Amino acid sequence: MNTPTAAPRPERIAIAPSILYFGTPVVLIVTRNPDGSANITPMSSAWALGQRVVLGLLASGQGAANLRREGDCTLNIASAALWPQVERIAAVTGAAPVPAEKAAMGFRHAADKFALGGFAPVPSDLVAPPCIADCPLQFEARLAACHPAGAGPAEILTFELDVLRVHAHREIVIPGTQHIDTARWDPLFYVFRHYFGQARDLGRTWRAEA
Ligand SMILES: Cc1cc2nc3c(=O)[nH]c(=O)nc-3n(C[C@H](O)[C@H](O)[C@H](O)COP(=O)(O)O)c2cc1C
Repeated sequence: MNTPTAAPRPERIAIAPSILYFGTPVVLIVTRNPDGSANITPMSSAWALGQRVVLGLLASGQGAANLRREGDCTLNIASAALWPQVERIAAVTGAAPVPAEKAAMGFRHAADKFALGGFAPVPSDLVAPPCIADCPLQFEARLAACHPAGAGPAEILTFELDVLRVHAHREIVIPGTQHIDTARWDPLFYVFRHYFGQARDLGRTWRAEA
């Protein structure tokens, strides 16, 4: 009689990576600057539960300051095809002067990230900041809470946002339903500072409606 033998477990080593970006979708936050112009903050420390989205942002950024001051924003979920445009605005900040901690990292100032990234604004229905027309999923959102987070050299904030309205490109919506067509929606992921796309569909959960 053969007794089943357990497969050997992969060897494990302790490491100290400089960042822990294990793979999260890229979100482009649009906020309003004090002069009424719009700023885009690319980020990936975001998660959703129910109608609430939670974001993790460095406090020194222009988007964080705008969000604390005005409370309204749009969350534009980038598709994989947009990664070159995201990268065009990756090394800049809307903050002027550039905060010392960002300047030390090599960030420059850019007043108009829509122009720099080749993005088109489209008006929102319920909040002042515009959405980004190029993103297949666009959420209009309002600040519910802001908390200090993280112990480290840089101040980090978590923002809890209520999503007020969702816009989607028609081509990623299953006709006649409220559901996203996951065969057509190709989100952009940030994985240890690399851009990834074209995630394979491995199967559905028991609660999937489409
Ligand atoms: C793909 C990508 C993901 C990023 N994720 C985050 C993030 O989760 N949180 C954060 O504070 N900054 C993140 N950043 C860095 C910000 O985009 C950067 O600090 C930028 O200067 C913010 O712009 P702002 O100062 O105009 O708001 C990310 C950048 C890129 C390109």
